[in-house]
Amino acid sequence: MRTILLLFLAALLLSLSNTASAQQSTLKPVATVNQLMKAFIIPSSDALFQVAMEAPQDDEAWTAVQNSALMLAESGNLLMIGDRAKDTGDWIKAAQALIEAGTVAFKAAEAKNVDALIEAGDQVYATCEGCHQQYLDKQ
Ligand code: HEC
Repeated sequence: MRTILLLFLAALLLSLSNTASAQQSTLKPVATVNQLMKAFIIPSSDALFQVAMEAPQDDEAWTAVQNSALMLAESGNLLMIGDRAKDTGDWIKAAQALIEAGTVAFKAAEAKNVDALIEAGDQVYATCEGCHQQYLDKQ
């Protein structure tokens, strides 16, 4: 009985790890972490921080802010794939914090709530700082 259970567990683990590695191998990271910062993360977070200076004036401007928030949240996923992840612990937590903060910002932008968006901007900024404090050599 115990052997059967162990075999079952082993088979389960094997199929789980196969699924995980199949997923990883279909992904093909192109940009470096630095390029992700410059191409997506800096411009989209700037767009969110900008709201504190000037609230979006029309639907088009709100859509742009919503898209920036989505881009920022999804960038957290991009930071976790391939060898971009510097480790399997704190780096993953920092990337997940970016997804979380970006999602909060997206919801605030969807609701067109300027105050909530400014608060979400603070949360976003804290995730940038949190990761940089630990992983950026040149401060
Ligand atoms: C999960 C970790 C992580 C998060 C979250 C993160 N960064 Fe970074 N960031 C890095 C690393 C690592 C580098 C250095 C990349 C390199 O030089 O190879 C970097 C570099 C940068 C740089 C320097 C680029 C240059 O000129 O060389 C800026 C600016 C930057 N990040 C902005 C941000 C902002 C804004 C946010 C938040 C919206 C953010 N980062 C979130 C890890 C992170």
